[in-house]
Amino acid sequence: MSNKIRLGILGGGGDSLIGVLHRVASAMHDQYQIVGGVFNPNWEENISFVEKIGLPTNRVYQDFDTLVAEELKLPESERMQVVSILTPNFLHFPMANKLLENGFNVICEKPMTTSYEEAKILEKTCQKSGATFAVTYTYTGYPMIRQMREMIADGAIGKVQKIDAQYYQGWINPVLHDKEKRANTWRLDPEKGGISCCIGDIGTHAYDMIEYVTQLRVSKVLADLNYVYDDNEMDVDGTVLIRCTNNVKGVIRTSQIATGEENNFTVQIYGEKAGLKWEQENPNYLYLLEDGQPLRVLKPGHVYNSELSLDGTKLPPGHPEGIFDSMGNIYKGVAKAIKKEPYNEGEFPTMVDGVRGMNFIERVVESHKNGNVWINIEE
Ligand SMILES: NC(=O)c1ccc[n+]([C@@H]2O[C@H](COP(=O)([O-])OP(=O)(O)OC[C@H]3O[C@@H](n4cnc5c(N)ncnc54)[C@H](O)[C@@H]3O)[C@@H](O)[C@H]2O)c1
Repeated sequence: MSNKIRLGILGGGGDSLIGVLHRVASAMHDQYQIVGGVFNPNWEENISFVEKIGLPTNRVYQDFDTLVAEELKLPESERMQVVSILTPNFLHFPMANKLLENGFNVICEKPMTTSYEEAKILEKTCQKSGATFAVTYTYTGYPMIRQMREMIADGAIGKVQKIDAQYYQGWINPVLHDKEKRANTWRLDPEKGGISCCIGDIGTHAYDMIEYVTQLRVSKVLADLNYVYDDNEMDVDGTVLIRCTNNVKGVIRTSQIATGEENNFTVQIYGEKAGLKWEQENPNYLYLLEDGQPLRVLKPGHVYNSELSLDGTKLPPGHPEGIFDSMGNIYKGVAKAIKKEPYNEGEFPTMVDGVRGMNFIERVVESHKNGNVWINIEE
């Protein structure tokens, strides 16, 4: 009999961007079986999508509340063990909170909620439930990002003295510059996306990445955000100066109107001995910079990599690892947690990262609105 983890999915239908990434990632290490879900709020689209991708239809539900009610009627040995939430942002909190209250483990897309207050409520519910909770800051699953984290922890670059993360995209241009489209996309609607578009969507990735690789905590932010049309004041561009707990300074540069850019996410950490640089569009190269030395390029799957990095590499060196593999590694870590197997805490982002991410978004918007002033991020 299969001992795969029974997975349910919310959102991620045929009309979605992120659904396929989660489906492939969950299958990658033979740990999960998708048993049902609600892939689309429209029943016809929901069921026809499930038929098209060849999943069983008997546990595809009309809506989220029906899913919870019906799953709870099943014996525990058949019930969904974990549910992935891949819907627009405003549904993350009500769905995650109810799932946790009813004993399900949860994998939730970022940003975790639409407000810091919701995030703190969710954290309490999660603590009470004792469930496993992961937030899919996808990029933390890349083998060379894991390597970067471990090298910094091992002192390979010395004390961190400068941080620079950039996430530049240009995709929003055709949406933003069309009045009807900008009025109808959920990411530019504060009711559905939360108080921020650019910082909420990609600034959080950059922020989480900085904390992931350095294991420092960002303690203060000063932000300058931008929007283009007066009829929509959701940010589509923003620069955030950051200070970390030990007074290390840095910058997060984000944009969705950087014309022609795709997913140009880079993270650069400079220490007193060396620097490390990584680019999402070439994720298999980790650059090691040292004064007076030739540039060194580290790649996945080699013995010089850490155990955490190697655990995220499936094939011999030279076979590129991409974003599907990165998300696959996160699902692999979550599977270990659900099965109560030992795992490295760098294997997947948790509730703590989700809460910190929401605090970051709110404090950044506050900094901008208050006239670009320094704001503390409370611990
Ligand atoms: N981790 C990442 O790198 C990454 C990348 C892209 C998107 N995301 C996040 O993933 C989430 C979804 O983004 P997307 O780009 O796929 O959005 P999308 O608009 O393309 O897709 C949303 C999906 O949710 C479904 N949906 C909407 N309401 C629903 C409901 N009530 N019940 C069930 N399904 C419902 C829609 O039918 C659609 O299939 C967002 O929170 C976004 O921030 C994360």
